[in-house]
This record gives sequence, structure tokens and C-alpha cells, in this order.
Amino acid sequence: MKTDTSGVPGRGLSFSEDAGPTKETALTKSLGKWDSLVWEEEEGRATLILTFTLWNVKKAGFSKAAKIFEAFETKIHHLESRQAKTSTNTVDDLEFFVKCEVHNSDASALINSLKRVAEDVKAHREDKVPWFPKKIRDLDKCHHLITKYEPDLDHGHPGYTDPEYRKRRAFFTDLAFSYREGDPLPRVEYSAQETATWREVYRKLSSLYPTHACKQYLDAFQQLEKYCGYQEDSIPQLQDVSRFLKERTGFQLRPAAGLLSSRDFLASLAFRVFQSTQYIRHSSSPMHSPEPDCCHELLGHVPMLADKEFAQFSQDIGLASLGSLDADIEKLSTLYWFTIEFGLCKQNGSIKAYGAGLLSSYGELKFALSNKPEYKPFDPEVTAVHPYQDQTFQPVYFIAENFEDAKAKLQSYALKIQKPFTLHYDPFTCSIEVLNTPQKVKTTLKQMKEDLKNLCFALENIS
Ligand SMILES: [Fe+2]
Repeated sequence: MKTDTSGVPGRGLSFSEDAGPTKETALTKSLGKWDSLVWEEEEGRATLILTFTLWNVKKAGFSKAAKIFEAFETKIHHLESRQAKTSTNTVDDLEFFVKCEVHNSDASALINSLKRVAEDVKAHREDKVPWFPKKIRDLDKCHHLITKYEPDLDHGHPGYTDPEYRKRRAFFTDLAFSYREGDPLPRVEYSAQETATWREVYRKLSSLYPTHACKQYLDAFQQLEKYCGYQEDSIPQLQDVSRFLKERTGFQLRPAAGLLSSRDFLASLAFRVFQSTQYIRHSSSPMHSPEPDCCHELLGHVPMLADKEFAQFSQDIGLASLGSLDADIEKLSTLYWFTIEFGLCKQNGSIKAYGAGLLSSYGELKFALSNKPEYKPFDPEVTAVHPYQDQTFQPVYFIAENFEDAKAKLQSYALKIQKPFTLHYDPFTCSIEVLNTPQKVKTTLKQMKEDLKNLCFALENIS
């Protein structure tokens, strides 16, 4: 991944000597492109770059600001002042430049407090490198919902006029929001009506799988039926499914309250965590749901997540998303859409489905493999910017040669996403390491060398 050395902490973090006539010019020159880095966050602490102006500092202006920094237990890394360029008054009007560290949850309050005693307060943070989870427990903060399809808000939702259904959904929302990393996944008792909906979906879709689903899906589906309680008469429990996945690919499930923001959802994939809804669609519309539900997750996503190659592909999209700017998140979620949700692949001379949006939709699965839609080869550069359709069937589907090829193409694409750092996923601690010092790179390399040595030895033994 491309490294921008202007982001190395401590470099260029001061007012420029040759600062131009405005504060913005000086600030832009002094900050460089990537200097305010949220990846400096450690143990919930964030590094902020602040600039502000204090009028007439002699009259206790600075002591008020200093008290605010003290009150929030701010650790100051760098503090610099100079005479305010825009001041027409006295030499006591100063501009300040502060690099400081504060607890993540206090960052906004610190800035707001500072605004009460200083002028022109600017914080340089969110628009540089967005916050991203580094430990699996950080996923407790990644549950921001896109609420447009919820039964409480969407007049077109089949459950909008059913108070019982909305009550049931509130129950599932509470379950998801009260879940914390490490908790056992909640087991749910489904009603007879919910089970009947599942049965109808299960029967209809499983009749299409032998002819429409890819081999990896069929193999996993068979295993799920054998070992994980997949059957038409009961809805599988997330806990059992999660255990099954963990043994096969290291993926695990986490309850989600609904459709999550792309950034949060993709971030969880980086940790091999799949955020899964647990409620079921409304019984009046068993073959269609405007939002993800457990039929979509369990029948669409789960079987594919049991495949090693596909699991790596999913994690790679997640890793690429960490710390990416909004424009890149948009492209990655479009890639996700045309692959993990609506992807097709070549297999033994024919085209098969591997996308969850297809494998959980009877109508679109048939449509996607008819001769009606347009097919294009999977090419991340093209796919990432292709318009998508979330109201009706896709007019265009992208076909992967195979998962290995799709994975390699995605990895090349991810390398081109501009970030000032390289990330490494540590499977032992399930955490993301920012490789921002030579020592960290050396330690990671050492581990890889040992693994490689072991594999070479194994190869020698069996050849
Ligand atoms: Fe999905």
C-alpha cells in the first residue's frame, strides 16, 4: 500500500517560516497532506491538530484556553504561537497551533469548549483519515444504521401497518444494540408464523440452487444442512451458524439491527466479522424484503462465507475500507454490491451465482441467469464506478473468471487506494496494526519468515 511520508508524525508540524499572507496558506503549508492522523489513536485516544486565535493574550486569554486543555486531560505534543496575521490591534493577538492527544470521546467537547474562549478554532481531523476500528472490540462502535428501509419509517415496507411486526422489530433492535463483542450471540425463539415464512423461502430457493448456485455455495449448503440445522422447519440460530463459520474460515457473525452504513459494515469484514440481521421479513411478502433479513443473511451470505477463497476476498474488501476517504468507501461498497451481493462467476463452461442478493431472491436469481441481463467481465476499476440498482433487478452483472482471479484483481485495486499508511491484520490478536515504524514492519516480517520456513519444511517432507 502506498505510503505518503508527509504523514510521518512529527514532520512538518509547525507554522511555516515563509507563511503567506493568510492563516489558511500558512496552515496548509505547515500541515501537509496527511499530518493530522487519526491512526495515531491508541487505546481510545485521538491526536488532534488545532489552530485558533486569542485576542489580547495578556488579559488572561491563554490561561482560559490552558485550563480547558487541562480539564480534558489533554496531552500537548506541540504548541506554537505567532502574532495574528489578520490582527489590526496589538502584538498581544496571537494565533496558536497545537498538536495534542485527548480521549476520543472528549475530542468534540474539547473543541466546543475552546470555541468559547478563542476565535477561528479549526480542528483538522475527520476529513483527513477517518477513524477506523483497530481491535475487534472496536466494532461495538460500528453499528450506524441506514434507516430508510425500516418498517417504522418506510411507508412502502410490508410491516409498516402491522404494529405487532414493528414491536417484534424493536425487540431485535434492542438485542443488536445491547450486544458487545465477546457476548454469546443471542438465541431467539421464532414464532410459528416466522417459521412458516422461512419455510416458504427455503423451499422455493433451494429448488433453484442445484442449477443456479456455484459449486462453493452448494458444497457449503450441504454441510450446513448436515451440521448446522439448516432445514425448512426451523430458522437456524446465529450462534450455531457463527460457530460453524468460525471453524471453517474464521468468520463469525455479530447481530445487526438493520442495514448498516457502508463504512461500518465493510470495517467489520476486515476482522472476519459479518454483521447479520436476526429478524425475518414480513409474512405478507415472503419472496421480497426491502432490507436485509435473516433469510438473506443465512441463505444468501453464510454458505459463501464458509469458502476460504471467498472469505479472503470479503476480508480484503474490508481491509481496503479502513481509513479510506468517503469517495473510496463509495467505490468499495459498489464493488461489494456487484460481487458479494450480485456476483456471477464462470464454472465448468457455464455461469453460476455466488452473490447473496441473488441467492436469496428467487426472482432475481432466475433473471440473472436468463439471457435478459447484460454481462460484463469483473474489472474492479470499471465495476467500482458502475451505477447500481437497489429498487429492481440489476440490468448488468459482472462475471468473475474465478475467486482467485477476482481476489488478485481486488488486491491490485486496493493497493491503488491512497492512504498514508499500510495496515496488517494480525489473526492471533484479531487486530489491525498500522505499520508506521520500521520495527513494526520487521516484527511482522519475522513472523512471516517463520511461517514460510515451516511451510518450506513441510513441502520438503512430502515431496
Ligand atoms: Fe447482503
